[in-house]
Amino acid sequence: MSLLQAHAGLAGKNAVLIGGATGIGRAIALKLAEAGVNIASCDKDAQGAADIVAEVEAHGVSILSAVANVLNVAALDSFFDQVEARFDHVDILVNIAGGTGRGPFVEATREYDAEMIRLNYSYVLDSTRRIVPLIRKSGHGGTIVNFTTIEAHRGAAGYSVYAGAKAAVTNFTRSVAVELGKEAIRINVIAPDTSPSVGYGKRGGDEAARMARFASITPEQRAQSTAMYIPMQEAPGVDDLANTVLFLVSDLAKCITGQVIHVDGGTSASLGFIDWPFGDGHGPSPQPESIDRLFGGVG
Ligand SMILES: NC(=O)c1ccc[n+]([C@@H]2O[C@H](COP(=O)([O-])OP(=O)(O)OC[C@H]3O[C@@H](n4cnc5c(N)ncnc54)[C@H](O)[C@@H]3O)[C@@H](O)[C@H]2O)c1
Repeated sequence: MSLLQAHAGLAGKNAVLIGGATGIGRAIALKLAEAGVNIASCDKDAQGAADIVAEVEAHGVSILSAVANVLNVAALDSFFDQVEARFDHVDILVNIAGGTGRGPFVEATREYDAEMIRLNYSYVLDSTRRIVPLIRKSGHGGTIVNFTTIEAHRGAAGYSVYAGAKAAVTNFTRSVAVELGKEAIRINVIAPDTSPSVGYGKRGGDEAARMARFASITPEQRAQSTAMYIPMQEAPGVDDLANTVLFLVSDLAKCITGQVIHVDGGTSASLGFIDWPFGDGHGPSPQPESIDRLFGGVG
C-alpha cells in the first residue's frame, strides 16, 4: 500500500453512486473500486449497469448494480431499500446523474422545468435524506459529493433552468455541510465545465445540432478553439473528475466541507477572458486590428 493510499483511508468503505454505470459515473466507480471501496450504484442505463459489475469485481470488491431512473421517485426509493439491505452502514455518497437540454427559457414548458429540476436538484435532496441515517450508522461520519456546473456560476443563456437547479445544488451543499459538520459528515460539490462524457453528447434542444457542427471541424481547429477557451488548453476528462471525487471522499480531504471545486482547466478562473489568436492574448475581446481577420471584414 502506498503512502497516499494509507492516508486516504478508503479500503473497506462502502459507497453509493447515483449514476455510476457509464461515463463520469463509471470512472468514479472504477477509481473507488481500485481503492478498495464496495459499491452500490443505480443508473438509468441498463446495459451500463450490467457491464460495470465485472469491471468493479475485478478489483476484489463487491457491487450492487441496479437500474433506476432518478426521475422516478419510487425507483430511487426502491434502490435505497436495496442499499439498506446490502450494507450495515454507508461511508460515501456521490450524486452524479444530471443533464440538460439547450434552448430559450420562454419556450420551455412546465413539464420540462419539472424534469430539469428533478434531474439536477430534487433527487439530490431525496438521496441525501436517505443516506444520512446510513452514514450515521458508521459511527465515524462520512462524506457526500454532488455535481454542479460552471453554468451555476455565470449567466448561462440557453440553460436557464439547469443553471438555476445546479446553483440550488451548490447552496444546498454548503448549507447541509454546516448542518452536519458536527457529525463529521462532509459534503462538497464539483463543478465541471466541458468534459466529454456520455450525457454530454446526448443533450436535447438544439445542442445536438451544435455539437454535430462542432464535430465537423478539423482536430487542429478544435484544439485551437479549446485552447482559446480553456487556460490549460485541454478539457478535463472523466478520469480527472473521478480523481477529484477520490480525493474529496478520502481522509486526505478530512477538513474540507461545503466547498465548490471547479475541475475545468481554469475556465472559471478566467471568467470569460478568451486567449485570442494573432498574439492578442487574454481579454474579453480581440484587439481591433484582429477583428477583420477573425470576422471577415465586419463593418
Ligand atoms: N460533462 C460535462 O462537461 C459536465 C459539465 C457540467 C456539469 N456536469 C455535471 O456532471 C454530472 C455528470 O455529467 P454527464 O451527464 O456529462 O455524465 P455522464 O454522461 O457520464 O453520466 C453519468 C451517469 O449518470 C447516468 N444518468 C444520467 N441521467 C440519469 C437518470 N435520470 N437516472 C439515473 N442515471 C442517470 C448516466 O447513464 C451515466 O451513467 C451531471 O450532474 C452534470 O450536470 C457535467
